[in-house]
Amino acid sequence: MHLLASSQLQLAGSMTVIRLSLHVLAATVWVGGQFVLAGMLPTIRGLGEGAPKKMAQAFGRLSWPAYWLLIATGVWNFIAVDPANASSSWNAAFGIKMVCVIAAGLGTFLHTRAKTPKARGIYAGIGALASIAALVLGIAIAG
Ligand code: HEM
Repeated sequence: MHLLASSQLQLAGSMTVIRLSLHVLAATVWVGGQFVLAGMLPTIRGLGEGAPKKMAQAFGRLSWPAYWLLIATGVWNFIAVDPANASSSWNAAFGIKMVCVIAAGLGTFLHTRAKTPKARGIYAGIGALASIAALVLGIAIAG
């Protein structure tokens, strides 16, 4: 709800723009990158036996910094949104989002360490689903 007398849309302040742009940019790399990599996998497999592993390692050098940037800017977000004023449904969504963030990181990490294709697939699925859930809940709490 707008507290201003006029119902005109207002621009976000510059610190808000920087904070949310960094958070969303990191989310595009962490979440979007997983889907782009998965979509390119059939082509990558055709490049040779070691190609999927090399591509996964190259992606990890981009995606893990993005994950840590999500955590850092996420803490910044949490401080900035004045959580003392949050409704119980906001708190619940935020709490579930934190569980998803941990599941996303843990699932992805275990995916990189898995020894069998089955385990690799299961952990990749957990990581991807938890990442999407964290993204959707992020939009819900920012809304
Ligand atoms: C996998 C990790 C994460 C993803 C994919 C993610 C994604 C998002 C997205 C897409 C938004 C919406 C931005 C907007 O619409 O302007 C958002 C908002 C938010 N995120 Fe995250 N996030 C992640 C981790 C975190 C962490 C670790 C925290 C807290 C420690 C956090 C706290 C927040 C808060 C408080 C908002 C609302 C910001 C606002 O209303 O200004 N996020 N997140």
